[in-house]
Amino acid sequence: MYSRRRFLTAAATAAAGLTLAACRDDAQAVTAATPSTTAAAAGNEPLNTRSIPSSGEKLPVIGMGTSGSFEVGDSASERDPLREVLKRFFAGGATLIDTAPTYSVAEDVLGALLAEQQLRGKAWIATKLSGVNGREAGLAQFNDTLRRLKTDKVELLQVHNLGDLKTQLALARELKAQGKVRYVGVTHYVERAQDELADVVQAEKPDFLQINYSVISRGAEKRVFPLARELGVAVLVNRAFEDGRLFSQVAEKPLPDWAAAAGITSWAQAFLKFALSHPAVTTVIPATGKPDRQSDNLKAGVGPDLDEEQRQSLIAAVG
Ligand SMILES: NC(=O)c1ccc[n+]([C@@H]2O[C@H](COP(=O)([O-])OP(=O)(O)OC[C@H]3O[C@@H](n4cnc5c(N)ncnc54)[C@H](OP(=O)(O)O)[C@@H]3O)[C@@H](O)[C@H]2O)c1
Repeated sequence: MYSRRRFLTAAATAAAGLTLAACRDDAQAVTAATPSTTAAAAGNEPLNTRSIPSSGEKLPVIGMGTSGSFEVGDSASERDPLREVLKRFFAGGATLIDTAPTYSVAEDVLGALLAEQQLRGKAWIATKLSGVNGREAGLAQFNDTLRRLKTDKVELLQVHNLGDLKTQLALARELKAQGKVRYVGVTHYVERAQDELADVVQAEKPDFLQINYSVISRGAEKRVFPLARELGVAVLVNRAFEDGRLFSQVAEKPLPDWAAAAGITSWAQAFLKFALSHPAVTTVIPATGKPDRQSDNLKAGVGPDLDEEQRQSLIAAVG
């Protein structure tokens, strides 16, 4: 009965041409359902992958951030949990790690931990040109980033929060032409900047954009996500947990009754699945320094996307 109702809802919504992840027929949806051949996710099921529109390269849908979580000292008590966080991440078949030169020591810590375990080859690193003005300052920062990450190239170079946009985007493209960067992107993290981000995406058509999106912050649905789909721009989602604040909002609440049947066993998985069930989204990058939370987050990257009824149910549940 419930399945039939969901099917009818999905069919009606699709017929109306509305966004519905469960029914979408774009290339991204097809690849989302295609199992990754790299490795098994935490529950032994392969992570879903989605294609980068500008190249067709596939990315696992769960990535990770490093803001806060990798800003630690060099004691064993601070580094050992991160070693395990990375071990579980790669064992689960995930690859994309987002960082920035302005996340204090995050690039140094990430570079050191990848190097000591010879994991650079498994990592798909996204970093940024951040808080700099002028080409020379941007280039100096990028060269320092390579040194800190102990690498000679990065997969994605993003202009952080649209700062010094024209100059830094031109530099990122120059570095892409030189083979030091494979993709270029732009980022922001707050609702009020989304119109500006949309204007930039429209004018510049970068390979990637990165923006905040969560069950309670859905502004990206208005212009940013439709533009990304129209122009073929890959989308990274930051702040899917609102920097952790969402968990206190649901602390006393049970998961929706349909969650277990949908393979969801935690609120973290529900929040990540919510972000991933928008058809514009390529990969979500939750940050944690705790191994068990990493395993939890990876579980959101398997199985089907949420349908529209489940998405609405989560919005209502979180309030
Ligand atoms: N402008 C930009 O480009 C921009 C801006 C913001 C963020 N970002 C990127 O996006 C990444 C993610 O954003 P974010 O770090 O701000 O916030 P987030 O991923 O929404 O939330 C991170 C918080 O959630 C907690 N958490 C993680 N997994 C959990 C789980 N399974 N259960 C319970 N709690 C969990 C973490 O705590 P613990 O560490 O204690 O587990 C941390 O406090 C950043 O790290 C960064 O790489 C980019």
